[in-house]
Amino acid sequence: MYKNFFGLKENPFNVNPDPRFLYLTKQIEEALTGLMYGIQTRKGFITLTGEVGTGKTTLVNRLLDWLHHRNARTAFLFNSRMNSNQLFDFILAEFDIACDSKSKSQQLMKLNHWLLDRYRAGETVVLIIDEAQNLTYPVLEEIRLLTNLETSTEKLLQIVLSGQPELEEKLKLPQLRQLRQRIMLRCRTTPLSQEQTQEYITERLRIAGAAGAPIFSPKAVETIHVYSLGIPRVINLLCEHSLVNAFVEQQRPIQPKIVEEVAHEFQLDEVEPIAPPGGSKVDTDVYNSEVFLQNLGEALSRFRLSPSSTRERK
Ligand SMILES: Nc1ncnc2c1ncn2[C@@H]1O[C@H](COP(=O)(O)OP(=O)(O)OP(=O)(O)O)[C@@H](O)[C@H]1O
Ligand SMILES: [Mg+2]
Repeated sequence: MYKNFFGLKENPFNVNPDPRFLYLTKQIEEALTGLMYGIQTRKGFITLTGEVGTGKTTLVNRLLDWLHHRNARTAFLFNSRMNSNQLFDFILAEFDIACDSKSKSQQLMKLNHWLLDRYRAGETVVLIIDEAQNLTYPVLEEIRLLTNLETSTEKLLQIVLSGQPELEEKLKLPQLRQLRQRIMLRCRTTPLSQEQTQEYITERLRIAGAAGAPIFSPKAVETIHVYSLGIPRVINLLCEHSLVNAFVEQQRPIQPKIVEEVAHEFQLDEVEPIAPPGGSKVDTDVYNSEVFLQNLGEALSRFRLSPSSTRERK
C-alpha cells in the first residue's frame, strides 16, 4: 500500500465530501460563516453556488455537523430530481412529522404547526437541498411557499439551496422572480488559486498523517494546478493517482512527470487547462460535459484494470 511508503494513516484524497478534510480558504470560510450567520439570524432563504467539484457538498456536510452540535433540526435532501408531492413527503419524513394525509394543504398545515412548536421551544429548523440546479420550476415554486412560513417577525424554516451555477441562472428567470427576491444571502465556492492548491494538498496530507519531507515536489504541485484549474475534485483525482504511480516507481518527492502521465491518462491534457480570462463558464462546461465525464469513467475503469492498481489494492 502506498500509505506505508508515504507514511500516511489514511487515504488523503478520497473523493467523498468528508467534512474532516475541509480546507478553509478565505472564500470557503466566508461562505461557511455566511451560512452560519444566515441560519442563526433566521434570514430564511440562502443560496450556495459554485462550479462543479468546488466543495459545496463538503461545505454543507460541515454545516450539518455544526447544526447537529447546536441541536438544530435538519432535513437534508440530496435527490433533487423530485416532484412537488415528493418534496413534501421528503420534508415530513426527514423531520419525522407524522401525517396520514397526502393532501398538500394538510401536509403544509402539519409542517406549520410543527415549526411553530419548534420556534416556541427556541429550536432552529433548517432545510438543505443539494444539487438544487436540478429542481424543476413547480418544485421551486413550492419552495417559495415554504419561505412564507413565518411569524410576524421571523422565518420559521431556514432554507439553503446548494447547487451549480445553473441554479443562479435558473433563479434569474422572470417566472422565478418572487423566489429570487426572497434570497437573503448568497454564498459561493470558487476554484483554488495556485497557492491555495499547494496549501490544500499539504493540508489533506497532514490530516491523513503525513509528516516530514514533502511528498509532492513544488513543480509537481504547479502541474497539478495547471491541469486541475484549482478544482478540488480534479486535484484529488490527480493526487490520488500520482501517489499510486509514484509508489509503483518508489519515487518521493513526486515529480511533475508522474502528474503529467496521470493527466494524460485521464485526458485532462486534451481539454484547455487554463481558463480563458474572465470566463469561468468554460470550466463548468468542460468538467460537466458528457464527454469529459465519459472520458473520466473510461480512464477510471482502465486504471482499475491496470496492473499497478492491482498491486496497489492488494
Ligand atoms: N475546501 C475543501 N476542502 C477539502 N476538500 C474539498 C474542498 N472542496 C472540495 N473538496 C473535495 O473535492 C471533492 C469534491 O467536493 P464536493 O463534492 O463537495 O464538490 P461539489 O461542489 O459538491 O461538486 P458537485 O457540483 O459535483 O456536486 C470532494 O472529494 C471533497 O472532499
Ligand atoms: Mg455536490
